[in-house]
Order: sequence, then C-alpha cells, then structure tokens
Amino acid sequence: MVQISLAKLIKKREFAQILDLMVDSLESSMIIEDDEGKPLMATVGAERLGRYPVSVAGDVIGWVNGDEKVAPMAALLSFLAESEVEKRNLAGETLNKYKEITLLYDIVEKVSSCLDTKEIARLVIEEAQRAIRLSSVSVFLLNRDTDELELIAHHGHEFDTMRAVSRSTGLAGSVLASGRAEIVNDVHADPRFVDGSTGLSSLMCAPLKAKDRVVGVIKLGSGQPVTYTAEDLKLFTTLASLAAVAMENAGLYEQLKEAFYTTVYTLAETIEKRDPYTGNHTKRVMEYSSAIGKTLGLTEEDMSRLKLAAVLHDIGKIGVRDSVLLKESSLTDEEFEQIKKHAVYGEEIIAGISQLRSAISGVKQHHEKYDGRGYPDGLRGEEIDITARIIAVADSFDAMTTNRPYRQGLSLEAAFEELRKYSGSQFDPGIVEAFFASDVMEAFFAANSRKKIIL
Ligand SMILES: [Fe+2]
Repeated sequence: MVQISLAKLIKKREFAQILDLMVDSLESSMIIEDDEGKPLMATVGAERLGRYPVSVAGDVIGWVNGDEKVAPMAALLSFLAESEVEKRNLAGETLNKYKEITLLYDIVEKVSSCLDTKEIARLVIEEAQRAIRLSSVSVFLLNRDTDELELIAHHGHEFDTMRAVSRSTGLAGSVLASGRAEIVNDVHADPRFVDGSTGLSSLMCAPLKAKDRVVGVIKLGSGQPVTYTAEDLKLFTTLASLAAVAMENAGLYEQLKEAFYTTVYTLAETIEKRDPYTGNHTKRVMEYSSAIGKTLGLTEEDMSRLKLAAVLHDIGKIGVRDSVLLKESSLTDEEFEQIKKHAVYGEEIIAGISQLRSAISGVKQHHEKYDGRGYPDGLRGEEIDITARIIAVADSFDAMTTNRPYRQGLSLEAAFEELRKYSGSQFDPGIVEAFFASDVMEAFFAANSRKKIIL
C-alpha cells in the first residue's frame, strides 16, 4: 500500500484549486490538520467545534475541524486522497510490469542465441539476481542415467554445493515430481527442512519444463527472511520456462553436433582402413592436436575447427592410387608428387560441404613448414593457419612413433628429439613447446612407466 501525506496532498496544484473552490462555497470556517494534529491550513475565524477524519482505506491521515458543515469537506479530502493512492498504485504496478517485460525480453534475447546448457543456466541465474531478492540460486538437471538431479550452475554458498542429489530430495525433488513451482516462506516450519540444514529462511523452486516434460528445477533462496509473493513466483516460473526451452534446443543441437562428428570420424576411419598399418592414426592425431590447442588456450571456435581438421587431415588420400599410397619401398619423385596432392584433394573434397568448410585451412596446410619449405603453397610462419601448424606437429609425432612394416617406430625420446631438432624449421617452436607442456605428456610417461624426461 502506498503511504500518503495530507500535507503534501493539499499543496498539489489540482488539490489546492479544489480546496479554494470548496472554501469559497463553504459557509463555515475550518482547520485542516495532519494525523498528529499539526495544523496544515485554516480559514479566518475557525473554531474546533467538531473533528472529522480524513482517511484512506481505514487509515486516518488527517482531520478537518469546524462545525458540522465542514464534514463534507473531510469526505471530499478522503475521496481525493483515495484516488491519489489508486493512481500511485497503478503507476507502481505499471512500472513493475514494465520491469518484468524488460527482464523477460532481455533473457529471451540472450538465451535464444545460446546453444550451451551451462551458459543458459548462468544467464538465467544472472537475470534472477536482477529481478528477485535472493542470496542463492541453483540450477539442476535430471540425469536420466543416474536418476539424480545434477547441479549444473549455482550462485551463492549457503546451499546446494553438492554436485548431485537424489531426485526425491527436499523441495527440488517435490517440484520435480509435481511439475509445479512452490514457495516456502518459512523454511524452518516446513517438515521438508526440519533440520534447517539449508541455511536459508525463504525458498522458491520452479520446474524446468519443456513440452510438458520436467527436465530439472531451479531453486533460489534468501538467507534474510523475505516473503516471496505470487508475483515473484510467476516471474520466476516464466524465467524457468524460457530457460527450459532454450536448454531443450541446446540439447538437440548437441545431439546433432555429436551425430555430425561421428559421421565425419567414421568417414575418416573408412579411408584410414585402406592402410591397415596406420591403425588409429586419425584418433591419435586428434587427441594430440586437442591437447596442444587446450594448452595454447584456443577459442572454442578454433578448437572445434582444429578437431574437425585433425580428423579430416588426410582425407585427400582417397584420391591417391593404392600402388603409390601403400608402396613400402622408396617413392620416386613422381610418386611423391602424387602423394603431395592429397593436401589439395582434401581441400577440394571438404570445400563442397558447408559444415566442414571451417577445416579447410587445417587440411590443406598440414604439410606446410614453418620455414616456408612445405607444400602445397610454401607458406611460412604465421601465414600457416594455427590449426595446420598444430596438426603438423601431432601428425609428424605420431608418424615417427608408429611402427611400419618397413621400419620400426622411433622411441618417445628419439621422437621428442626430432621435434626439438626441427622446431623453428619444420615446426612452429611455440606449438612444439605447447605439445611438451600438454597433458598428453603425462599419459606417455604413465604408459611407459619411465622417468620423466627433461624436455
Ligand atoms: Fe597428410
């Protein structure tokens, strides 16, 4: 309820005009006082014969003193004050609605372009903090395999720092089962929180519901006692619904992306099968490349085109004759020229598929050398795409350490030595360093149970 002061009200221009008219037509004198009896206005010769209250919704905000003829004046002031309160309430409601709409518009704008579930959860937490009084928020998704609610994002520290909870635990479990949002304004009086372990006074929980399927919940709470209202719950539920739809889309996108990578990988493996001695070369080149990319702190976009290019780097070999590709003895110059063409063939194959185009540079340039002596274009230094410079190190290292029918693979130490020797000529020194610093190294040492080699 909006508080109103009679002192301020009678000073407002439109009220002052009405008062003047009333005073002129009134045949009696009067004194107007505030609720504490302090005079606000008086006409000449006024006497306190009677006292008539000015009230709004039962609350006295002032008095009109005089004979019984001034009673209508008190009624009129009450009516004007009530109208003013209504006007202000309406303005307040409009402002709240405006804020709510702006908030929802903001969140729709942000999450609709987001295809990452955790990022969506983070955005929703951010918006909830802006709109609702809270000290903690947690977003849980139901893991269908473990049947547990998994925490995917949270803010605040009072509760829910556990990564996963049983699907029937507490308020989250209750909302997950019913699919209906709930408010608990007195946590300590609710039997579901008798142990008081949440450390919060008030809670709200809303389901993440997409296409009538509850996929998780969002729970928020305040350490200080607050009374969450039906309006708060409505806003929170809408926020949760928007998040659920966005998360559903993100999930579908993830599935699509995974299917795409599986198809690409299968394609690369099929080609690899032509040369049975390479066994899992593609897989290892992808692992080494990813590890280097991670160490270098590549952006998500560069990481994704790096992985794609690593898988597809030798796809152009499909265009090289078996008699050349599988030849075990030394290659003639003409045969080597044939092999070299696989870089350009690779470019030609993937250029026709829009989803693979981001991998073109990595595929075409993976045999370029840092000093400009590689092929097909003799690019040098940073003219060579970063993905290609990474794949060059990963590819060469794997080729060096793999046994072939006509030669024994190098030991790890010898292969490291080769990388170091050609760092700056064949390879980008920064990439060689990143490879040595990557977590792949730990795996090598663990697998070989050797003492750590000084790199
Ligand atoms: Fe190659």
